[in-house]
Amino acid sequence: MNIRTYHSSDVVNETASPNQYGTIKNTDKIYLENNELEDIKLEQTTIWSFPKRGNWSTHKGNFRGNWAPQVPRNLILMYSNERETVLDPMVGSGTTLIECKLLNRNAIGYDINPENVQLTKQRLNFEGSDSNVIVEVGDARKLSKIENESIDLITNHPPYANIIQYSNGMLEGDLSNISDINRFCDEIELVAIEFFRVLKPGKFCAILIGSTRKNGMFIPIPHMVLDRFLRVGFVLKEEIIKQQHNCGSNQYWGSRSARFNFLLIMHEHLFVFKKGEKNGK
Ligand SMILES: C[S@@+](CC[C@H](N)C(=O)[O-])C[C@H]1O[C@@H](n2cnc3c(N)ncnc32)[C@H](O)[C@@H]1O
Repeated sequence: MNIRTYHSSDVVNETASPNQYGTIKNTDKIYLENNELEDIKLEQTTIWSFPKRGNWSTHKGNFRGNWAPQVPRNLILMYSNERETVLDPMVGSGTTLIECKLLNRNAIGYDINPENVQLTKQRLNFEGSDSNVIVEVGDARKLSKIENESIDLITNHPPYANIIQYSNGMLEGDLSNISDINRFCDEIELVAIEFFRVLKPGKFCAILIGSTRKNGMFIPIPHMVLDRFLRVGFVLKEEIIKQQHNCGSNQYWGSRSARFNFLLIMHEHLFVFKKGEKNGK
């Protein structure tokens, strides 16, 4: 595999932007296969749109509902430093962990579904930095193996209730089995409580989530999830609107939206929360 190493001096100035760590280094080491410098460019507004999903390294778009690698890449570069530890408690096809390995972050990944853990292990099988990346079967509501205040950044991309089902009702604890939105939010609150426990004070936790419709009416899952995260003590650092592209279900709903007078949902919410320095404030 053709891996190149970039150093900060390889990257033009305009790719640098300020964050809480000062200027993003962009970075001391980024391992890229396709030499696409623009993929390193960080987002600078609260609207993110990636019509072309990144396909460097072992990233592939064929896991239903996975996020484009540009999402975790931006989060990792904005909210963590090299050698720090990132947690993705619902890895799916491993997009975040691939980025951690490329960007020299240590990482812990879990997924309730052993098949997804296996897939992630396969996708981590490439030459990258020597960071420590582990992935295991686990439940994001019970992170008992992780010590209090030991994680530098959490990136989370949960199921959007049962919009996409990841185990077709076969796995207990799979949040994609839950159709009742209030019940789904109750479980997400348990996840948020664990995130708050394991995150270091002053550090960040990001969650990407989208809405749905029931009987033609808009169900604002992100707003309900936001409320749960605030309830457990997080404060909101950023609200980012992520435009959606290539939605499989639009083929079906496209022709019906005009007939039944509703709009196709083409955005998700990416919330970045902060755990305060003292007592979460
Ligand atoms: C939207 S997908 C994540 C996709 C991932 N970001 C990627 O790029 O491939 C959500 C994942 O959450 C997992 N999941 C559902 N309930 C879970 C739970 N209680 N604990 C851990 N993982 C869970 C599902 O198995 C699925 O892989």
